[in-house]
Amino acid sequence: MVTVNCAMTADGKIAGRSRKQLRISSAEDLERVKRMRASSDAILVGVGTVLADDPHLTVKGLPPERNPLRVVLDSNGRTPAGARVLDARARTLIVTVEGCTATWPGADVLRAGRGKVDIAAMLESLYDRGVRTLMVEGGGETIFSFFESGMVDRYCVFVGSMIVGGRNSPTPADGAGLPEESAARLKLVGCDRLGDGVLLTYEAGDGPT
Ligand SMILES: NC(=O)c1ccc[n+]([C@@H]2O[C@H](COP(=O)([O-])OP(=O)(O)OC[C@H]3O[C@@H](n4cnc5c(N)ncnc54)[C@H](OP(=O)(O)O)[C@@H]3O)[C@@H](O)[C@H]2O)c1
Repeated sequence: MVTVNCAMTADGKIAGRSRKQLRISSAEDLERVKRMRASSDAILVGVGTVLADDPHLTVKGLPPERNPLRVVLDSNGRTPAGARVLDARARTLIVTVEGCTATWPGADVLRAGRGKVDIAAMLESLYDRGVRTLMVEGGGETIFSFFESGMVDRYCVFVGSMIVGGRNSPTPADGAGLPEESAARLKLVGCDRLGDGVLLTYEAGDGPT
C-alpha cells in the first residue's frame, strides 16, 4: 500500500519560493500525520526535501526499533553526512542507482535503476524487506514519479488556508508532467475539516490513463 501524503496551500504550493519548509498543516493535521507515520512501515522523501528541510522523519516518542524505516531517493549521493535522517532515531535506507558508490555511516544503501531511482524496482526491494505500508511525503519531484509510475494507492492532501504564490514554488506533483490525455484519475473518498483547513483523501491505483 503506497500512500502519498502532503500539505499544500490554498493556491496549490507545498513550499514557498525559497523552497524552505513552510508550516501549512493545522495542529489537527499534524496529529493525523503523526498517526499515519506511526502506522507505516516506511516513510519516503526525495533528497530535495532532505536538502531543503533536513527532516528527522520520525515519530516523537517512539524508540528507534519501533520507528518506521526512513527511505531517501538519492541517485547522486547528495544526502549530507550530517543530515537528520541519518541520526540514530530510526533506521535509514538511501536508495540510489547503479554506478553511485556513495555510502553513509549508519544507513543501508539500495541500488535500483540507472540515472534516477526506478520506483517499481525499489518497491519490490522494499517489499522483500517487509515493507507493506509506505508513506511518501514529498517533495514534488518524488510524488510526480510515483504517479508517473502508477504506483500510488492513496493520495492524502491537506489544504491549508494560506496563499504563498510563486511561479517556481513546488507543488504536490512537479516533474515533467503527464501528457494531458494520460492524467492520473483519482476517486475522492474523503473530505474532512481539520482545524482551519481541509483534508482531501483520494484513491488512485489505475495509474496514468
Ligand atoms: N508541504 C509538504 O507536504 C512537503 C513535504 C515534503 C517536501 N516539501 C517541499 O518540497 C520541496 C522539495 O521537493 P523537490 O521536488 O525539490 O525534491 P524531492 O522530491 O524531495 O527530491 C527530488 C530529488 O530526488 C532525487 N530522485 C532520485 N530518484 C528520483 C525519482 N525516481 N523521482 C524523483 N526524484 C528522484 C532527484 O535528485 P537526484 O537526481 O540528485 O537523485 C530529485 O531531484 C521543498 O521545498 C520541501 O519543503 C513539502
